Amino acid sequence: MSETNTAQAASMEDLVALCKRRGFIFQSSEIYGGLTGFFDYGPLGVELKRNIRDCWWRDMVQRRDDVVGLESSIIMHPKVWQASGHVDGFTDPLVDCKVSKQRFRADQLFFAAVTIDGEVKGYVSALESDDTAGALQAAAESFKRKKAIQGALAPVVAVEFTDAAPEQIPLIPSPATGEPGSLTPPRAFNMMFETHVGALRDGSSVAYLRPETAQGMFVDFKPVVDTGRVKLPFGIAQVGKSFRNEITPRNFIFRSREFEQMEMEYFIHEDADWETAHKDWIQWCWDWLKSIGLPDSHLSLYDHPKAKLAFYSRGTTDIMFKYPFGVQELWGIAARGNYDLGQHEKASGVPQAIFDETTKKKFIPHVIEPAVGTDRIFLAVLCAAYAEEAVTDEKGNTEQRTVLRLSPRVAPVKVAVLPLLKNKEQLTTRAKELYKKLQRRYAVFYDEAGAIGRRYRRQDEIGTPYCVTIDFDTVEKDGTFTLRDRDSMRQKRITEAELFALLDEQVY
Ligand code: GLY
Repeated sequence: MSETNTAQAASMEDLVALCKRRGFIFQSSEIYGGLTGFFDYGPLGVELKRNIRDCWWRDMVQRRDDVVGLESSIIMHPKVWQASGHVDGFTDPLVDCKVSKQRFRADQLFFAAVTIDGEVKGYVSALESDDTAGALQAAAESFKRKKAIQGALAPVVAVEFTDAAPEQIPLIPSPATGEPGSLTPPRAFNMMFETHVGALRDGSSVAYLRPETAQGMFVDFKPVVDTGRVKLPFGIAQVGKSFRNEITPRNFIFRSREFEQMEMEYFIHEDADWETAHKDWIQWCWDWLKSIGLPDSHLSLYDHPKAKLAFYSRGTTDIMFKYPFGVQELWGIAARGNYDLGQHEKASGVPQAIFDETTKKKFIPHVIEPAVGTDRIFLAVLCAAYAEEAVTDEKGNTEQRTVLRLSPRVAPVKVAVLPLLKNKEQLTTRAKELYKKLQRRYAVFYDEAGAIGRRYRRQDEIGTPYCVTIDFDTVEKDGTFTLRDRDSMRQKRITEAELFALLDEQVY
């Protein structure tokens, strides 16, 4: 087979359809109509997600001498979230539409004045999208047409609803109804999920599902230092679920209400060169994303403007990814000073400082925090891997194939074992023997159903990098099998030892 150069980039519709069709991701509780912002990972999704997490853990913790792991509880003492600032400040600006009962995030809702011949005639609104300005311009033109106002329409200027003046709010149309008068002024909405601990259900029993894993590393800093034989600079890493009651979960698993984080707090001396440490971690994260198959072409950096940083923050850089719905944050790398440990020292009364043998001084370490969501990486990996392409066989026949060009590191199935024919016992026996042997170390798939070309296509669609076919040469001649490469679709004969060597090199 040879490939014609017609690969298409993924659209979200393609990806969501593939995820459902092939058992990567399902809507949570779908038989009851689904629950917005919650997702389930199906048989293939759970393998892909686990591989992403395991690669991160191996590279971030097990293969480094300066990072140790942690698994803290999801529900922590509520004072943790007071000290961290989440009880007071972990909010998004919420706008209600009193007519439709829909809710919007004020920073995702934009409006513009419709100015004709220099005079404001009304307002239009649009929810944030790839082309918010274009949507507002189109709405302004439609407004002018419907109201049959003559004159020159000025180009619209998009303004975030959070910046609306009180007298403008009643004039801005709701994106739900298209009519003004129903939007409320923005109010702070705390995104933490509340629950109760114990049998009592009063104010004293309130607790929170954690909105980030990071606080676990700060709260357990002292026990790790006291027991872990760690020396600065060192990191504490954790992978686990976090929960945010997002006002508008969207873009599939990009922004959901229950999600998994992979976070690491890298503690450095208060006098250390934090800028170099910050840069080194940005580079590390970028290189790691490449190691699991994300191309440079989809990645970029965004430095948060100094004026928008929290007062304690020295700098935050996001690694951005080009998703089908726009360039969005993938991995935030923040230099947080010593704010978090300092807050917990103040709130708990337990000293968090450590002793510097050189200067004989005590100090609270500073921290660099690379924080990423596993689900966001999952989506990025799928977006980068997905292609639909026309392929032509040796006879000149062209057909369409969907392929996931997943890195062998994260592919849910590493190799498929295919006996050439189902009804030849000598082939199926040898294929099953190889399958069992591979299965001890790798996720492997055995498939004897259907024509070999169709079996290859099934594996292409789930991203299996290699297929091995057991044929008569295998059992009657030299023991070699055909190895078929997913991306080039080239085939070559290979011995069992060569197959294991290849997998050992590619799956790490
Ligand atoms: N700890 C940073 C975050 O949750 O995004």
